[in-house]
Formats: sequence, structure tokens, C-alpha cells
Amino acid sequence: MSVKSICCIGAGYVGGPTCSVIAYKCPDIKVTVVDLSKERISQWNSDVLPIFEPGLDDIVKSVRNKNLFFSTDINPAINDADLIFICVNTPTKSYGLGKGRAADLKYIESAARMIANVSAQSKIVVEKSTVPVKAAESISNILRANQKPGVKYQVLSNPEFLAEGTAVKDLLNPDRVLIGGEQNQEGQQAIAALASVYMHWVPKDNVITMNTWSSELSKLAANAFLAQRISSINAMSAVCEYTGADVSEVAHAVGMDSRIGNKFLKASVGFGGSCFQKDVLNLVYLCECLNLPEVAVYWQQVININEYQRRRFANRIIECLFNTVTNKKIAIFGFAFKKDTGDTRESAAIYVVKYLLEEGAQIRIYDPKVETDQVFRELTHPSISDNPEKVRDLVTVCDDPYKAAEDTYAVVICTEWDEFIRYDYKRLYDNMLKPAYVFDGRLILDHQSLMDIGFHVETIGKRLTRTNVHRPFVASN
Ligand code: NAD
Ligand code: UGA
Repeated sequence: MSVKSICCIGAGYVGGPTCSVIAYKCPDIKVTVVDLSKERISQWNSDVLPIFEPGLDDIVKSVRNKNLFFSTDINPAINDADLIFICVNTPTKSYGLGKGRAADLKYIESAARMIANVSAQSKIVVEKSTVPVKAAESISNILRANQKPGVKYQVLSNPEFLAEGTAVKDLLNPDRVLIGGEQNQEGQQAIAALASVYMHWVPKDNVITMNTWSSELSKLAANAFLAQRISSINAMSAVCEYTGADVSEVAHAVGMDSRIGNKFLKASVGFGGSCFQKDVLNLVYLCECLNLPEVAVYWQQVININEYQRRRFANRIIECLFNTVTNKKIAIFGFAFKKDTGDTRESAAIYVVKYLLEEGAQIRIYDPKVETDQVFRELTHPSISDNPEKVRDLVTVCDDPYKAAEDTYAVVICTEWDEFIRYDYKRLYDNMLKPAYVFDGRLILDHQSLMDIGFHVETIGKRLTRTNVHRPFVASN
């Protein structure tokens, strides 16, 4: 079967870029991306896309309204499609059974019910959202329980591995495309049809196929392994700070072992993003449900170390500023969870600011891509603050880093934006209160030149020689 028309349900960070690249690489396929959110769809149809991703604007502009369409008219798009991607969000459940750990599958279920209600012909339904193992089976059950006469469904798992900030690059040149499906003739035909879409540009050997459950679990496993590497190096960073070892040197030495490899060994203030925490918690919950408590505890520790790292960093700021930050102005550089994205979901900056606000600090935030409203949405979320008025009183979002740093006691680097490296730190220093501090939560600055200017510098996983005397290393709270 050849795929001529694709519908993607969910126009978010995954659905938008993935389908734009499919349309760009497959001019013979009509691709329609649908969403319940009118605002998101109108942004996809405008000059200012709803997400910032390097290279995405050009791709969208080259194919939009040719073979790529963004629409809120969901039913006809589903009905016209041979193949439907489900790219809806699967957040951590915030209520009921599995609260705080299990994935909330209500959007997946609603997408499956929409497909079943509307489809008058057979479809291949592709689960691209990240889901717990056996979710494809639940989707199949919903579809089959509601199917119209003569309509058949094949449900495939095709998890997405793109990272934000490099989404276009990752989609154009993926390490692998993973497709899981039923191990029977119909399943294999559906797998071949989806593989043929990717093989417009991905080498055949990079498209791997397997059974549905292996595919679903591989996605959770990949994110858990990546998050685990960050927590491992962050755990080492604490040891470095107490011993005089330098975490970058340790990472370099460890990463040169070809069995270990050098990627994802950058110590930081903690990983953020919409997925690592959610997916590891999802795995923890799965293990608990399978009565594998030892395995659950093992993966839970990846999350615990991440929380420890964020808290440790904030505590370090408070201790260095003479154990009190009440009413002290502090500049936060970077609010996105990583560079080259405007996404703030689970950003470490949110937690650092939260801890400083709890101590009464006055916070000035500068980020090159994050809008003011977004900063306040994150900081006034009930899980972060129970006093939104206080947040609005104490936080100012600035559109200029030099203004943000004026009259502050400290500049805190929370995101590794390249532009932070290029700033005129002498100019920043001259306009700050003294002693002036830099807390480099991303290990991106030239610490020696900062100290030469006169800054007191604190960073992750490294003890810096400094002139001031205080207790530099902070135990966890
Ligand atoms: P997102 O929140 O940016 O987008 C999801 C979209 O789905 C939203 O716009 C929402 O309005 C829409 N939606 C929800 N229910 C719908 C329905 N019934 N009909 C139509 N639209 C509906 O989420 P995202 O970041 O794109 O993530 C989607 C999935 O992909 C998640 O499972 C995530 O774990 C996974 N994933 C994300 C990334 C990433 O980098 N963000 C990478 C790989 C995998
Ligand atoms: C991650 C995975 O890398 C993708 O493969 C996956 O598809 C995606 O999650 C998902 O499922 O959503 P993403 O979260 O977009 O992608 O970005 P990463 O580059 O993985 O960074 C995640 C966090 O870890 C960021 O806060 C980043 O700053 C931090 N990080 C990353 C470190 O602290 N150290 C590192 O060495 C690498």
C-alpha cells in the first residue's frame, strides 16, 4: 500500500516539525496537521510559527499550502488520510490513580475516539506520542470496538527521538527511525507502508522494525538512559566540588572510553524539558505496576539526583550571598530549558527562581526567546507558587541583559545560550553591586577572565580559587 495522504493529530513541538519535514521530503504526499487549538493552528499558518526551531521557518514556508496544511477542521482531514499520526501530549497525570508518575493518556484516547467516529475507510494509525508499553493495544481496542463496517485499522508504534533546538537536523538525518507493529501479514504491510514514507530520505538500514511493545519500551528506555547519564555526571559534580576534581576533566576522561562515549556528559544545573522527567516517572510507574520495586527505585534515583542538583545550585547562591537573598536583586540569564528553543517546560531555571523567591529575592530574568507571559505562566503555576501576587511583585522580565544585571548582586546562568558567552562582562560588572557574583550553572563562561575582572565565580563541579572566604560547598537540603 502506498501512502498518499497523511493526517497528524497534534500541532505541537513534535507534530509540527515532523510533518513539515515529511511534506518537504515527500512532495507526492499530502500532509495535514490538525489541532484543537485555533491559536496554534493560526500561528502555524502565519509568519511567526508557534515554536522556535533553527531551520524550521524555511522548510514550512517552502511547502505550506502546497502539500502541507495546518487546520482545525479535524474530521475531514482524518477521513481523507491513509495514515494518521497521533502526536498529542502525554503529560504526567496530575490527579487520581498514578498521580505524579503515570502518563495521562486522555488526549491519546480522545484522538483514538475521534478517528473511530469519523473514519469511513481503513487506516494505518501511528502512535508517535511517547506512551507507556501497551498503549498501542489500548488504541487498537478503542478503534476496533467502534469501527464502522468494512473499516480496518492497523496500529503502529513510531516513537520520535528529535531533541528541541536541533529538531530539523534530527528529523532530516535521524540516527534511526523505529517502527513497531503486529507480527502478522497485515502488521508487516502497515510497517512497510510507513517505512516507505521515511525512505524518501532516510537510508533503509536506519529504519528499524520490531514488535510494538519493544518499540514503545525502547522510547522510554532511550530517554531514561539519556537522563541517567546527566544525573550520573551531575552526581559526580558534587563529588568534584568537595574534592577539588574538575567535572569537565572527569567527563572528558570518562567520555574518551569508546564504550562510554562523550555525549550527554555535560554537568549542569539539572535537566529540564517536557520529556525526561515525565518519561522516567512513567517508567518508574510501569515498574511499580509490574511489581518490580527494585527497578522502580533505581530509575527514581535519576529524578532525585536532578532535584538535588537544582536545589544544591540555588542553595549555593543563597550561601554565597551571605546566607540571605531577601530583597537582593539577582539576574537570571536564560529561562528556556536548553539553548535554541523558547520552550520552558520543566526548565531548571523555574526551580532555581522558585527557591530564590521563597527566600524573598528580587529576580530579573532575561532570555532571548522566552516571552514575558510564558515566564509568569510557569512561575505562577500552582505547583511552583501558591502566591502569584508575590511572584508578580518580585519578578521582572527584561529585554536587555545589561539592564537585567544593573544593580544586582549576582548573574546566574541557567541556560547555555551562545550569546551569554559573548557579553561584555566588564560592562556588566561595572554596573553591579560589589562583591559581584557570577553563578555559572552551565559551565559555559571563561571563569578565569571573569575572576580577572573582579567577579566571584561559582560553577558546577569545580572549585575555583577565589579571594573571598566562605563555606563554598553546600550539602543538600
Ligand atoms: P505539545 O503539547 O507541544 O503538542 C500537543 C498538541 O496536541 C497540542 O497542541 C494539543 O492542543 C494537541 N491535542 C491534544 N489533544 C488533541 C486532540 N484530541 N485533537 C487534536 N489536537 C489535540 O506536545 P509535544 O511536545 O509535541 O509532544 C507530543 C508527544 O511527543 C508527547 O507524547 C511527547 O512525550 C512526545 N515527544 C516530544 C518531544 C519534544 O521534543 N517535545 C520529542 C519526542 C517525543
Ligand atoms: C530529549 C532527547 O534528547 C530526545 O531524543 C527525545 O526525543 C526528547 O527528549 C523527548 O522525548 O522529548 P530534549 O528534551 O528536547 O530531547 O533535549 P535534550 O538535548 O535531550 O536536553 C534535555 C535536557 O538535558 C536539557 O535541559 C539540557 O540542557 C540537559 N542536558 C543535556 C544536560 O544537562 N547535559 C547534557 O550533557 C545534555
